[in-house]
Amino acid sequence: MSAWIGIDTGGTLTKLAYLDERRELKLTVFPSNEMHLVKEWLENHPQVEEIGLTGGRTEQLLDVLKTMKSIEYIVEFEATLKGVRYLLEKEGHTIDQSIITNIGTGTSIHYMDGNTHARVGGTGVGGGTLIGLSTIMTGISDFDEIKANAFKGKREGIDLLVKDIYQGMDTPIDGNLTASNFGKVGITDQREFEQNNVLATTQGLIGEVISTLSIQLAVQHETEHIVYIGSTLIDNEQLVKVIEHYTILKKHKPIFLEDCGFSGAIGALLNIREHSRK
Ligand SMILES: Nc1ncnc2c1ncn2[C@@H]1O[C@H](COP(=O)(O)OP(=O)(O)OP(=O)(O)O)[C@@H](O)[C@H]1O
Ligand SMILES: [Mg+2]
Repeated sequence: MSAWIGIDTGGTLTKLAYLDERRELKLTVFPSNEMHLVKEWLENHPQVEEIGLTGGRTEQLLDVLKTMKSIEYIVEFEATLKGVRYLLEKEGHTIDQSIITNIGTGTSIHYMDGNTHARVGGTGVGGGTLIGLSTIMTGISDFDEIKANAFKGKREGIDLLVKDIYQGMDTPIDGNLTASNFGKVGITDQREFEQNNVLATTQGLIGEVISTLSIQLAVQHETEHIVYIGSTLIDNEQLVKVIEHYTILKKHKPIFLEDCGFSGAIGALLNIREHSRK
């Protein structure tokens, strides 16, 4: 039986989406700097005849694969949106209009309206920033370890809240909002910080930058929902909480998808299916 696969090769991770013998969707992931693993995976799955390919490292992957298989390339943003539409329906969300925020190595933000979509913004603050800052500040570079330790940490001693500035006065905005991420450090004498607290505060910084920007774009495009995707969110309860809290506080509706890291790979897979039906 011939089979198809969708591959999204991003700055950090290469995601694979394929249908197994029972035509069930299977998802798997490899580090993008170990592309030979994708080649080995394909050699172990000779039934794969067609590859749907997307992502910024497509050329680098093709160089390693040197494959004779048929390749259907699709630009990253289109693949992502195709995948998001599929996952929204699969996971029971009936929305047509939304901001889509993809927290990959960096963050890319899109506006979707029915079948049309456009890239409306982005920021260099993303999952790569989480790994980079964590590594420099604590020496911990493993994604799972960063998440687990951050989860045990507290932000209060490092972040400066609005109420910390307006002591004894009414605050002009919600006093529990962050006035300055990491801002308490510069106005106190403390110079030693617990690793877990530094990691928790880093997750806070990233989540708040990304949700603030996404909310502003949602306001600009008059849309209520924001769908947050990207592998940075995988099993990252703390980052999800930060983003969820900020988005709801600013009166928008956040949506988190279960297979949040795989929209691009699923979109690339669906794209082959659409083309082969024509
Ligand atoms: N197994 C893992 N190893 C390393 N980072 C991981 C892992 N799982 C999740 N991450 C997090 O996910 C981020 C990458 O997310 P994603 O795979 O969506 O991006 P990408 O597609 O590689 O990058 P981009 O789309 O920006 O080119 C990493 O920066 C890290 O924070
Ligand atoms: Mg990506």
